[in-house]
Amino acid sequence: MTDNDMTSKSNNTVWHNATVTRKDREALHKHKSAVLWFTGLSGSGKSTLSHAVEERLHTMKVSTFVLDGDNVRHGLCNDLGFSDDHRVENIRRIGEVAKLLAEAGVITLTAFISPFREDRNGARRLMPHGDFLEIYCQCPIEVCEQRDVKGLYKKARAGEIPFFTGIGSPYEEPDKPDLVVDTHELALDKSVDAVINLMVERGIISKA
Ligand code: ADX
Repeated sequence: MTDNDMTSKSNNTVWHNATVTRKDREALHKHKSAVLWFTGLSGSGKSTLSHAVEERLHTMKVSTFVLDGDNVRHGLCNDLGFSDDHRVENIRRIGEVAKLLAEAGVITLTAFISPFREDRNGARRLMPHGDFLEIYCQCPIEVCEQRDVKGLYKKARAGEIPFFTGIGSPYEEPDKPDLVVDTHELALDKSVDAVINLMVERGIISKA
């Protein structure tokens, strides 16, 4: 087995059942836990929107946590690059962390490009039905490229970043997202409203 082999190496382990359950933690927090999975191109507004939703939820006394691609890649995933295999592993880890946070009674907001449909579906499958909401931050690549907040599109066009999503590497749009937010057309406040409304509709939180 090589160091790159991502298959499970944990033999001889026995699952310990917690006596304080997810239900108990949800009761303590007075809301259900869930995963809000924001996906979209780099520069499509995933981080901005997820943090703005978190702020709104925080004022509503909801327990939240944002997992953000750029941040997580400084720690938990700092051994991963941007090849297809590494992106698959990145998203697998985030799915597992989000699942743990759901067990902890928290609403997790993830902001990762997560370009592959199958990987996003894999993260969805880890969660009980209805607890995973896929939110597509839809924004034409031309707009993302024009914004180019981090200057990465310019570098990618210059051939300095070979596998940049949307240029040298694909982005697979969601088939059936729970919500599409046109981040290039909708004001941030309205986008936050749309996410909050979805959460109310799905019974995750009650109306403010
Ligand atoms: S993912 O594809 O594995 O989901 P993730 O969301 O963690 O990506 O990281 C994306 C961020 O990494 C981008 O917002 C950008 O700042 C940076 N980045 C660096 N190189 C690349 C690349 N080749 N493709 C996309 N994003 C990159």
